[in-house]
Amino acid sequence: MNFSLEQVSALIRNRRSIKPASMDPTRTVERATLLTLLENATWAPTHGMTEPWRFRVYEGAARETLADTLQRVYREVTPAAEQREDKYAKLHDSVLQAPTIIACSMQRGSVDKIPLQDEIEAVACALQNLMLSASAIGLGSFWSSPPLLESGDFKSWLGLRPQDQCVGLMYLGWPKVSSAWPTSARKPLTECVSWA
Ligand SMILES: Cc1cc2nc3c(=O)[nH]c(=O)nc-3n(C[C@H](O)[C@H](O)[C@H](O)COP(=O)(O)O)c2cc1C
Repeated sequence: MNFSLEQVSALIRNRRSIKPASMDPTRTVERATLLTLLENATWAPTHGMTEPWRFRVYEGAARETLADTLQRVYREVTPAAEQREDKYAKLHDSVLQAPTIIACSMQRGSVDKIPLQDEIEAVACALQNLMLSASAIGLGSFWSSPPLLESGDFKSWLGLRPQDQCVGLMYLGWPKVSSAWPTSARKPLTECVSWA
């Protein structure tokens, strides 16, 4: 199977973060679609074939539990002086604006010679696969990583062990009819490439 470099470049460059507020909460993501996205995620590179990714999917009423938990943990882990009511409200609102949210975690393997960072990076690659797949069909995706994901309370709520990490909440949803697919820009290659 061959894809032209133009096709692949178009897919990669058109992937955009679509904020939950721009998603249609009433239009669900079909289970078959979701399973394909998750399957694609698992085809990411993985050092030592540890396949450290774990996905917990929240849809429908389960989102309420997630939204409530995010708010509860935010209150717990944020020093009183730093608490912001807009952030507190947004944690709840964002979850209900998206029809599907996936808590994406790294489950640390038992092979110590595989560096922890490699395990996290493998999950990041998996999430890129997932986002590119979503983007290919016009499905919005948004990777969110609020600091509370690192809290022991949130981790244990997710069923993670201390050595595991939740690397992000992936919001998925079809863009509202009224919202245009966003554009973005990147710095020129001269800013990041040097030739030896
Ligand atoms: C590891 C990671 C964590 C991210 N966490 C957040 C986040 O917490 N909040 C947020 O607004 N965007 C987050 N993003 C998304 C970036 O804001 C987004 O990718 C960036 O603005 C570029 O836009 P684009 O994805 O449309 O190219 C995260 C992206 C990555 C890779």
